[in-house]
Amino acid sequence: MAKPIVHISQSLEELSEMAASRISQIINASPEINPFRVILAGGETPALLYRVLSNRFKDQLPWSRIHLFPGDERFVPLDDPGSNYAMISETLLSRVPIPAENVHPVPTELSSPQEAADQYEKVLRKFFKDDGPELTILGMGSDGHTASLFPDSEVLNERNRFVSAVEAPPYVTPASRITLTIPFLNRSRYILFLVSGARKSAALHTVLGDSESDQSPYPAGMVHARESTEWFVDEAAYGR
Ligand code: 6PG
Repeated sequence: MAKPIVHISQSLEELSEMAASRISQIINASPEINPFRVILAGGETPALLYRVLSNRFKDQLPWSRIHLFPGDERFVPLDDPGSNYAMISETLLSRVPIPAENVHPVPTELSSPQEAADQYEKVLRKFFKDDGPELTILGMGSDGHTASLFPDSEVLNERNRFVSAVEAPPYVTPASRITLTIPFLNRSRYILFLVSGARKSAALHTVLGDSESDQSPYPAGMVHARESTEWFVDEAAYGR
C-alpha cells in the first residue's frame, strides 16, 4: 500500500486554501475529462474549503464539466440544517455557475433511507458504470469514521453496492444515513482527506500508521485511492 501524502497546515484556513489549490490543480490537469466527477464530503470541516473554491477559485474551475455527488447524506430534507446538501448549497452551489443538472443530491425526499439509497445507487451506476470518481473529498471523525462508514458496522463488509442505508451509532445524530461504500470509494482516482482539530489526532495517527497495511480498525484507514490518497491536516490534528 502506497504511503499516504500528508500536507500539514497551521490552521483550518491554510488547510482549506491548500486543499482548494490541489483540487484546482487536479481538475485543470485533465481538461479532456468530461464529466469530471467529484464526491463531496459532508460535516463541518469542508465548509471553508467550499467557500474558498466558490470565491478564490471560482474563475479557475471548469464548472460546466464538473459533476458533484455527496459522499454521504443524513436522511433529512435537503433544506434541513443537518443536511450535507444544504451545507454544500450554502457554501458552494449557490455561489458558482454550475449547471443544476451537474449536481446529484441524495434523494432524501423519498419515503425511506433504503429507497433513497437504491435511487442514488441507480444514479451512480449510470454515471460510473465500471469506473469511479476522478476526485473524492472526505472528512474523518474522531472515531475514524469517514462518510457515514462507522467502526464495527455491517456496511464495512459490503463488497458490491455503491451506496448503502445505515444507522449511525448512538453518539451521532441524525442517525439515519445514506453512504457511499468502501469498494466504491476505492474506485476513486484521487482521494483528499481533510482533518482538523486535536480531537482527531489519535485516530489520524492510527490511520496514517495503518496505511502500511490494509487492515485498519478505522473505516478511514480502509479507503485508498487508485492513484494517490492525500491528507490535508492542521497542526492541531497532527499533534505538533
Ligand atoms: C457527515 C460527514 C462525516 C464527516 C465527519 C467529520 O455527514 O458528517 O460526511 O463523514 O466528514 O463526521 O465531520 P466534521 O468535519 O464535522 O468534523
